[in-house]
Amino acid sequence: PRPVVLDCDPGTDDAIAFLLALASPELDVRLVTVAGGNVRLERALANARALVGLGGRVVPVVAGAARPLLGAFAAERAVHGDDGLAGLTLPEGPPATPGIAADAIRTVLRAAQPGSITLMGIAPATNLALALATEPALAQGVAEIVLMSGAWAEGNWTPAAEFNAFADPEALAMLLASGRPVTLATLELTAQALCTPARIAALRASGGGAPLRAACDIMAAVPPSRRFGGAGHALHDPCAVAWLVAPHLFTTREVHVAVDLGPGPSRGRTVIDRWGRLRQPTNARLLETLDADGFFALLRKTLGS
Ligand code: BDR
Ligand code: CA
Repeated sequence: PRPVVLDCDPGTDDAIAFLLALASPELDVRLVTVAGGNVRLERALANARALVGLGGRVVPVVAGAARPLLGAFAAERAVHGDDGLAGLTLPEGPPATPGIAADAIRTVLRAAQPGSITLMGIAPATNLALALATEPALAQGVAEIVLMSGAWAEGNWTPAAEFNAFADPEALAMLLASGRPVTLATLELTAQALCTPARIAALRASGGGAPLRAACDIMAAVPPSRRFGGAGHALHDPCAVAWLVAPHLFTTREVHVAVDLGPGPSRGRTVIDRWGRLRQPTNARLLETLDADGFFALLRKTLGS
């Protein structure tokens, strides 16, 4: 299985991503690191611990950044509820492993074969950027950086910016400049993973154990999004996991991505040159289309078994 570091801020869709990653035989989640994002760091850490417990795996969970490299914590996202898990109560989970996320990631990379570790970021990218900032040579241990981040059209936090990109745009820019392959699941991709009542009902009907039931309970508790006319909500973060375990469900395009780091209304915007208009060298692989039925079948198969 592919060794993975999972950097998260659970978060309802983080929770589904988390359960999917822990249950996927193709992945070996070596480390979970946590950032403040959907909810504040302490809450996100407690949720991550509970999710590791629910997933039935022994994985160190290490706390990281409570705020971005520059500026202030973005704000909590109402869509995830006050507790980040839309009110789902889980047993407490194993204790956090002492230490700091960036150090823990560096320790994993230092011990790794060259090009072996996948860094998966489904939160503001602060922890991952800090890990690579002070010892850039450690990036050699990275196979791929897979991020749920950005948008090529409008944002979901500001009109210009997607939440994870907005919450720490400098960190995202650092990862794009790291020299390691970056893959982006943007809002346009994750919109295709539209979670509707019918899809939740089909998942529930497939049976399965506690992780599938918890995933369905969380999905059912997330309010439908205005973006989709109330039809459902986007399962953003699980798309990053799906890319790693079922890349045949996606089409991709190599692109140049710039992040707006200015202080104005476009801060955090990802300017994605899908048509090569700027004639810049490409620095990211964009996930463009998703086979949604295949994606939900993957959730059913992996969480239900
Ligand atoms: C991203 O922001 C968070 O609310 C989600 O967990 C996801 O990582 C979507 O914009
Ligand atoms: Ca997230």
